[in-house]
Amino acid sequence: GKGNYRHFMEKELHEHPVVLGDTLRQYIDPASRAVALPALPFDPVAVPKISFSACGSAFIATQVARYWFEQVARLPVDTDVASELRYRDPPLPEGGAALLVSQSGETADTLAALRLLKSRGQHVLSVVNVPESTMDRESDGTLLTVAGPEIGVASTKAFTAQLAVLASLALGFGRARGTLTAAEEARLTAALLEVPAHAAELLEQGLGDMMEIAREVAAARDVLFLGRGSLYPIALEGALKLKELSYIHAEGYAAGEMKHGPIALIDASVPVIALCPSGPLFEKTASNLQEAAARGGRIMAFTDAEGAPALRRFAERVVVLPSVDPFVAPILHAIPVQLLAYHVAVLKGTDVDQPRNLAKAVTVE
Ligand code: M6R
Repeated sequence: GKGNYRHFMEKELHEHPVVLGDTLRQYIDPASRAVALPALPFDPVAVPKISFSACGSAFIATQVARYWFEQVARLPVDTDVASELRYRDPPLPEGGAALLVSQSGETADTLAALRLLKSRGQHVLSVVNVPESTMDRESDGTLLTVAGPEIGVASTKAFTAQLAVLASLALGFGRARGTLTAAEEARLTAALLEVPAHAAELLEQGLGDMMEIAREVAAARDVLFLGRGSLYPIALEGALKLKELSYIHAEGYAAGEMKHGPIALIDASVPVIALCPSGPLFEKTASNLQEAAARGGRIMAFTDAEGAPALRRFAERVVVLPSVDPFVAPILHAIPVQLLAYHVAVLKGTDVDQPRNLAKAVTVE
């Protein structure tokens, strides 16, 4: 049941700390801070590249994972939505590696992509939340997310649990491939292991101007989400969540793409939600946001204590998240964009757990 919560989605949002902790403990030994993966269906050292595929939020998780695999494992990654991959004819190396991600393990397009990849001689690893699901059974190997049942149609805890598994896997690949030093591995696993506590902090303390932002967004017709690097897919996720829950038109963009078109949309009626934690890309993102603000855009920024002062100079609202290593920032920033979509949906009175036209598992093409 929903317990004391108004919606399953609200309950599931509050399960982030526990789910992230349970999932990370499967793949990282807290005592030694070493990644501990089960046997994989391919050799991380020998594979020349890895093909990712999934649908919806699970696809967005693979887009975040691409940044991680490139950064710490120096491994080329392709990712494509399963409904496209299944009808492409991608050249694939014999014995290559493929990774599919799905909460349900039953999504028709993802399953079709799995079967195509297998028929092309790829060794398939899946990240699924439902043990014994079709994808679990048909894969050469499975890494489970430990998110428990997710009832709300909008993915919340399953998405962050997917990120936790994919981050651990990238670190495991990095160690195996010798692209990550033991010291870096220890530093990044420590950062990952702290995410559940930061998620709890963020959910318990509430998030400053979150409700004001939700009211502004609920009144808008269009909303832009911007981010750079691994926060760019989180901008896509923010837009997807808002669309599916509140039926407000939203788009996620790489912040650097603004001047190539979408900045033409900017006026005072379009809230711009910025995901802008401190880190190597902070200055670049902040300068894109400042350009939008100079054209009348109303910037609502999610950042951390280090990033807040610079953003306050031009942003209408600034929400301060716990400070974390940039490697794990996309996991933490996924939570406020989910919360925002939740609050907007409640304000608009839409059916939070069962949005119109959507199914929890899309088992038909
Ligand atoms: O069960 P799956 O993870 O394969 O589902 C994939 C998508 O249908 C799913 O993530 C969908 O995009 C969610 N409603 C997003 O909140």
